[in-house]
Amino acid sequence: MSRLLRPARVLLLGPPGSGKGTQTERLRKQFEIPSISSGDILRHHIKDGTEIGQLASSIINQGKLLPDAVMTKVVASELRRRHWLSPSTSWLLDGFPRTHAQAEMLDAQELEPANAGMNLVVELQVPEDAMLNRITNRLVHVPSGRVYNLTYNPPKVRGRDDITGEPLSRRPDDDPAVFRKRLKEYRACTEPLVEYYKKSGDVLWSVAGETSDVIYAQLEREVVRRFGESVDESAEMDSEAAGAAD
Ligand code: AP5
Ligand code: MG
Repeated sequence: MSRLLRPARVLLLGPPGSGKGTQTERLRKQFEIPSISSGDILRHHIKDGTEIGQLASSIINQGKLLPDAVMTKVVASELRRRHWLSPSTSWLLDGFPRTHAQAEMLDAQELEPANAGMNLVVELQVPEDAMLNRITNRLVHVPSGRVYNLTYNPPKVRGRDDITGEPLSRRPDDDPAVFRKRLKEYRACTEPLVEYYKKSGDVLWSVAGETSDVIYAQLEREVVRRFGESVDESAEMDSEAAGAAD
């Protein structure tokens, strides 16, 4: 575990099943950066039966995107609630913004006035058949957003979350036909979004790989290169001592 020396405000962009949630979780643990996933927020709304949840449910199950203004309002209120709109905070966004209009609204209405612009946008590139294979084997714990895969990172107890022991579920949009629609939407929206970030200084960084381990190693290096790190020596010594005792 380590800490970054400079505030990192990071967006993870990538098609369905590319590992945004998986990489976010690893960065969150490694550098103690808090995160928001737009998909997880919507799944919470669906579970709680809110007005947004009712709107989101049918849109998500068709593989389409929620209206830009709705999505921006939902995430912006979360950023404000967490007091993240400041130049000194670090955070990760998983899955928002994902259209050019969302990025413009977020920047103009929230980040620029707070002097808290995004300083790293990571584009994950994974082969399509690997992504389809992953989502058809995915299980999720909706309350926390933790994701599992029946082959890659299965839960310790079948069908149960490792931390809470609560039941895991399959996402209704994790079906091959809906996956193809999500992928089509992603491709249509991403090109303009990537172009937008290309014009925002040196923030865009793309990484390709077949596995999350290969991608994570490069991502970790890039984060450290950009933001610097100070290693938590007590945690290192604890883990070395634990290793020696094994
Ligand atoms: P969202 O929940 O963001 O879905 P998504 O973008 O389709 O991405 P996923 O969550 O499916 O994939 P991921 O990249 O997080 O992959 P993961 O790490 O889980 O959004 C859902 C919907 O909400 C959207 O379709 C839209 O309708 C709506 N929405 C959300 N944001 C919106 C916005 N901004 N605007 C409008 N609408 C919005 O990995 C996938 C699986 O692979 C997991 O099971 C994982 O364990 C496994 N895995 C990871 N790495 C490996 C590996 N190396 N080998 C094998 N398995 C692996
Ligand atoms: Mg996800």
